[in-house]
Amino acid sequence: MTKKSAATTAGMSVRNVLWLWWKLLVVVSLTLCVLAFLKLQSYSLSDSELSSSAFSTSSISRRSRPVDYRGNPKVAFLFLVRRNLPLDFLWGSFFENADAGNFSIYVHSEPGFVFDESTTRSSFFYNRQLTNSVKVAWGESSMIQAEKLLLGSALDDPANQRFVLLSDSCVPLYNFSFIYNYLMASPRSFVDSFLDKKDGRYNPKMSPYIPMSKWRKGSQWITLIRKHAEVVADDDAVFPVFKMFCKRRPPLEASKGKKNMKHQKQHNCIPDEHYVQTLLAMHSFEGELERRTITYTEWNESATNMEKKGWHPITFSYADAGPVQIKRIKDIHNVYYESEYRTEWCRNNSTLVPCFLFARKFSRGAAMRLLSEGVVSQFDVASIMNSTP
Ligand SMILES: *[C@@H]1O[C@H](CO)[C@@H](O)[C@H](O)[C@H]1NC(C)=O
Ligand SMILES: *[C@@H]1O[C@H](CO)[C@@H](O)[C@H](O)[C@H]1NC(C)=O
Ligand SMILES: *[C@@H]1O[C@H](CO)[C@@H](O)[C@H](O)[C@H]1NC(C)=O
Ligand SMILES: *[C@@H]1O[C@H](CO)[C@@H](O)[C@H](O)[C@H]1NC(C)=O
Ligand SMILES: *[C@@H]1O[C@H](CO)[C@@H](O)[C@H](O)[C@H]1NC(C)=O
Repeated sequence: MTKKSAATTAGMSVRNVLWLWWKLLVVVSLTLCVLAFLKLQSYSLSDSELSSSAFSTSSISRRSRPVDYRGNPKVAFLFLVRRNLPLDFLWGSFFENADAGNFSIYVHSEPGFVFDESTTRSSFFYNRQLTNSVKVAWGESSMIQAEKLLLGSALDDPANQRFVLLSDSCVPLYNFSFIYNYLMASPRSFVDSFLDKKDGRYNPKMSPYIPMSKWRKGSQWITLIRKHAEVVADDDAVFPVFKMFCKRRPPLEASKGKKNMKHQKQHNCIPDEHYVQTLLAMHSFEGELERRTITYTEWNESATNMEKKGWHPITFSYADAGPVQIKRIKDIHNVYYESEYRTEWCRNNSTLVPCFLFARKFSRGAAMRLLSEGVVSQFDVASIMNSTP
């Protein structure tokens, strides 16, 4: 009896202790939950751009724009430049052979830079710079911002139906009418876009706003149809995530050796090589793309091949821009994507067409040679002699 009651009391106290422990556990876990919640709250509140509403990609805030226009559909040439346009003489000759109503020009240069007779040899560029341009750090998300501003300005003209992004070292490889007809014949955007499993640029912190399955890579040099240009210009859901989590790491410090290299490689995100591709994939527009770029870049693969970043685009000099080299580029009719085992054939319906309409990076000398070889127009020596450099 005593034994039993003792046992019962002992049992009671054991149960009491267990009960106390359980209560304690509940209180502790609740406290942890609250703390975690508060931390999350302060985290998202600390960055006002990351308001939860900004993340619904389905409810994209479409700006209303005029849709009706008279005359021909236009190609908008969007120049993303550091300062001036060193190859303006070539582009001037290119646009001289166009119909004035078939194109428009927009330039994003550093804030305050003015294109006039003192800064450019081609009147096509006079006052074509954006008034709302931003300071661009090359390779940072401010570069995407500049692209979005260019697209936004060009969209204000409802006649603009194709949007070509170009750098200050890009050249046309054909005359205007060839390029115009090529772009107008395709109802699709040209966006180099592929999966790269070994890439490692995706930052898991982007999830769930940017699902890893939608992460794409590709050349920055895109050509968009109007529908896709609107999506890129108006996106304010994915861009803030890029701004926050897709950042370029500072350059390598050689003294820190291999360890630094590994650190460098991890999520060293290159915004301008992922943003448009990923955004369009998130909007399920990949079926409306030619998944290739129309701007040729020649890579120096012999350079330190530690990672692709070690490859550098080759700058074409006068000697590299002869008829043989240019023909070699023009004769390319397919592009192979190694990471996807995909061969992209460049065609217009069933006929093969050249893959590339533009090329970079061209020096002044190389551009001068294109001009003299009559690549963009019938060469007219007099026009060169008369123009003041
Ligand atoms: C433009 O180039 C194409 C192909 O190179 C050529 O067939 C055409 O005659 C050229 N047009 C003009 C106006 O020069
Ligand atoms: C201008 O556009 C019209 C209509 O799209 C086209 O027929 C014409 O060939 C274009 N002109 C040039 C020089 O490309
Ligand atoms: C593509 O085909 C269209 C007709 O379908 C033609 O007008 C255009 O010139 C072709 N473009 C090229 C680059 O061959
Ligand atoms: C390619 O890179 C290597 C090493 O950096 C350099 O020596 C070579 O001149 C480059 N070639 C060209 C064509 O730029
Ligand atoms: C193929 O041809 C059709 C009919 O001529 C045209 O509407 C379409 O734009 C062409 N496609 C391409 C990629 O040029």
